[in-house]
Amino acid sequence: MKNMKCIILAAGKGVRMKSEVPKPLHPIHSRSMLAHLIHTVNKAGIKVSNIVLVLGHGADKIKKVFENFNFAYQAKQLGSGNAVQCARKYLKGYNGDVLILYSDTPLLKKDTLIKLVKTHKKTKSRCTILTAEIDKPDGYGRVIRNDKKEIEKIVEEKDASSKQKKDMHEINVGAYVFKKETLFSYLKKVKLNLRKKEYYLTDIINILQKSKIPIESVLTEDQTEALGINSKAELEKASCILKEGNLETFMEKGVSIADSGTTHIDYEAIIGKDTFIYPHTVIEEDVEIGKNCKIGPFAHLRPGTRIGSNVEIGNFVELVRTEVGNNCKIKHLTYLGDARVGRNVNVGAGVITANYDGKKKNKTIIGDNVFIGVGAILIAPVKIGKGALVGAGSVVTKGKNVPPRGTVIGVPARPFHKK
Ligand code: UD1
Ligand code: CA
Repeated sequence: MKNMKCIILAAGKGVRMKSEVPKPLHPIHSRSMLAHLIHTVNKAGIKVSNIVLVLGHGADKIKKVFENFNFAYQAKQLGSGNAVQCARKYLKGYNGDVLILYSDTPLLKKDTLIKLVKTHKKTKSRCTILTAEIDKPDGYGRVIRNDKKEIEKIVEEKDASSKQKKDMHEINVGAYVFKKETLFSYLKKVKLNLRKKEYYLTDIINILQKSKIPIESVLTEDQTEALGINSKAELEKASCILKEGNLETFMEKGVSIADSGTTHIDYEAIIGKDTFIYPHTVIEEDVEIGKNCKIGPFAHLRPGTRIGSNVEIGNFVELVRTEVGNNCKIKHLTYLGDARVGRNVNVGAGVITANYDGKKKNKTIIGDNVFIGVGAILIAPVKIGKGALVGAGSVVTKGKNVPPRGTVIGVPARPFHKK
């Protein structure tokens, strides 16, 4: 796979999304649809430098996100067949096999792509397509086979007879491996579909079959992989499938999750064994959590958060760019931004760091064994020394550092000495 070229078609208008965002950029479970697909292609062993993205509708916006890619431009959206033609000049001098994918099938799995390519190579095929048996094949191109079960053609939903629509449950997923030379010499023969005014890539199949070139196929084991995203409802469905798979991966690594339905964990998060995630919790990318923690319910951990082990983060707690040492308790209604919290710290209910002064973000440093009373506000930049105590409802103002083992109370907070 290492030197194999891959064309990803992403020029379509995506009219059914009813959106101003180009379809490949729509987010599904932490990443854009196109990023998901590229990630899978990479994992299957194809390098970014061997991928050509065919762009058209929304090209400028997509280019900004995928800066380092090879782009082909399809000026007019004249169909998937025409889109592949647009990528031709980027494959100059290359004579191997080409993997063609659609940017709106982000659920494809790495192993499926590898199987598709392996089958193509093993059978010395010139064209191998991925198919799926689907209970409700509405909207997909149907794979039509002859009496010998050989693939004869692909008929698009709108061009299919009612019998084909009813009886044929094997669909075209939209992933193909072609010998490059076969692809471009036969693509030229595809005629304009008069109803849609498009050149269908799928029409090449019947042309190959008539020229006695056998078409190999691989059937997907999991039919959800075939889901093509054309609408917001399909986007949500795909998102849920990806989310579920991702949470299963965390659970396999020893993380406990109370309720998958209401938990969101980004792919890039790192979570230790026996950490328990309670419902309605959102853990974003670039978050690390140690072992034996309790997180949530209703916790929001944003990028740059690092949490040690045996930490309790409770309801309505939001942390961003914040480090929390082992054995801390931050259990209710708290916001900590740009903070460094030592070990064995108790942060009372409703504590807030005022980390943004309108111009820049400032740091709050809290030492080991500190106790912050309920409702305290810490105006950054500020340091609370080891073992210090901040009284309930206090406002610790900017730069008024609390010394180690000191106690402050009031608004603004002042040192408190027991009589
Ligand atoms: C396509 C297939 C269908 C298959 C289904 C799987 C064709 C003709 N039909 O249908 O057999 O079952 O996918 O999901 O290919 N594109 C361009 N330029 C264009 C038109 C499309 O780049 O001019 C790209 C789109 O961005 C998209 C892909 O090609 O990534 C497929 O186009 P789409 O319109 O979504 O095709 P479907 O009707 O879903
Ligand atoms: Ca589609």
